Amino acid sequence: MKTIHFKTFGCQMNVYDSERMQSLLETQGFKVEPELARADVVIINTCSIRDKAEHKVLSLLGQLKPLKDRYPNRVIGVAGCVGQRIGRTLLQKVPHLDLVLGPDQIDEIGSLVEHALKQGKRTVSAKLDDSGRTYSQPAVIHRAKVSEFLTIMKGCDHFCTYCIVPFVRGREKSRSIAEIVDDVRRLALQGTKEITFLGQNINTYGKGTDENLAMLIEQTHALDGIERIRYVTSHPRDLGQDLIDQFGSLPKLMPALHLPFQSGSNNILKKMSRLYTREQYLEKIAALRKACPDIALSTDVIVGFPGETEAEFQETLDVLTQVGFSCAYLFKYSPRPGTRAFALGDEVPESIKEDRLKRAQDIAFGYMENENKAMLGKRYPVLVQDLDRKGWRYSGRTPSNKLIHIENAGEATMGKIIEVEMTEATVASLRGYYVGAPRTQRPKPIAIPRTDLGSFGAITPQERVPVPL
Ligand code: 5AD
Ligand code: SF4
Repeated sequence: MKTIHFKTFGCQMNVYDSERMQSLLETQGFKVEPELARADVVIINTCSIRDKAEHKVLSLLGQLKPLKDRYPNRVIGVAGCVGQRIGRTLLQKVPHLDLVLGPDQIDEIGSLVEHALKQGKRTVSAKLDDSGRTYSQPAVIHRAKVSEFLTIMKGCDHFCTYCIVPFVRGREKSRSIAEIVDDVRRLALQGTKEITFLGQNINTYGKGTDENLAMLIEQTHALDGIERIRYVTSHPRDLGQDLIDQFGSLPKLMPALHLPFQSGSNNILKKMSRLYTREQYLEKIAALRKACPDIALSTDVIVGFPGETEAEFQETLDVLTQVGFSCAYLFKYSPRPGTRAFALGDEVPESIKEDRLKRAQDIAFGYMENENKAMLGKRYPVLVQDLDRKGWRYSGRTPSNKLIHIENAGEATMGKIIEVEMTEATVASLRGYYVGAPRTQRPKPIAIPRTDLGSFGAITPQERVPVPL
């Protein structure tokens, strides 16, 4: 029996793709090996959103050379966005790399790996499927988790000038509501309580068909067993009033939304081709808060876009201050070859980008810390969904999607929504206790089988792309 190990970089969609590839290989008889150095096949699922993300992949590939020298029959593969962007060059440059596949070859992983193992041939398979507006990809469900992610569409038609995604994930395509609802129903039957729909530009789900995101949310809402619904990532231009209203009318749709604004300056937004103004963004925020007053908002920001002046950057700080985000992911602009912004050059010096990142972090993290501290002593309905690696402490999420470590929850709470009172809060972590059990009760650790994806790429908080674009 051959063993496989996945190393995953980048966004939640990549995590989903890795899980899918893993499940497909498992149905073919492969077994997951938690130690990279012992696996017959190592697949690195990659991200090319910023230069740094690509460097991590290249440096990991470098580290794998001695392993391949020692065990030439092992297979090393690169999947995902880097595979799509520079796959062929990578195969030429890295002699110990055996296999490259793009995001549209996920479902061919079985035959590609078999081919590499049996024939020993080096292969690139990275053709984007750019035909039509729909595609089918029923979930491969092995061990449904309490909270599951589900990709419902792929690609992006927006072409923001800084972004590589349309080049590596292709044009927008959607799965049908019938297929998605069928997946969710099967997940719910196996115990899934929360579903998070994934798409790079999710508000336009169904484009070119007679289906849309509001319809999908409504039909999912009607399913027994599903108690919480979320979706990522929204685009301020495409988030319509119908979707905003649902936050006020559908109790299972959690009061949390990730709505990247990228820059607070209208001039920069124009250069980014974001298709909205700062004022329009703030109007969407006001409409969301009107429909759902306690909605938790998160965002993405890029600092140091080519030509960004100090005054323009101040406008970004101003939006961060005005809105007060529950969570903000802040990035230094990274030029991506092939994008329109790349041609503008990379004018803002690194030291200024660094300084702006720091100043934006001070504001955003300060707000996040205050918000977390304000939760102390209050009670929240927490869906228990995880157990730490030691098998000791359970954790779960509030409706606003904050992760809470629970002092005294036992095994029986897994998959349940329980009331938790907050006892500790910093910018990075929250802790509380289950009010339905004695506070001193410390449940015994339980042995947990290793069923996860092995190790994930070490991603710094700034590099963590929580959601696809
Ligand atoms: N440089 C820096 N950040 C980027 N993002 C996308 N492209 C780039 C780039 N070239 C950020 C955006 C997006 C998030 C996922 O990554 O903020 O919303
Ligand atoms: Fe690809 Fe973008 Fe996801 Fe990175 S964040 S893996 S570039 S889709």
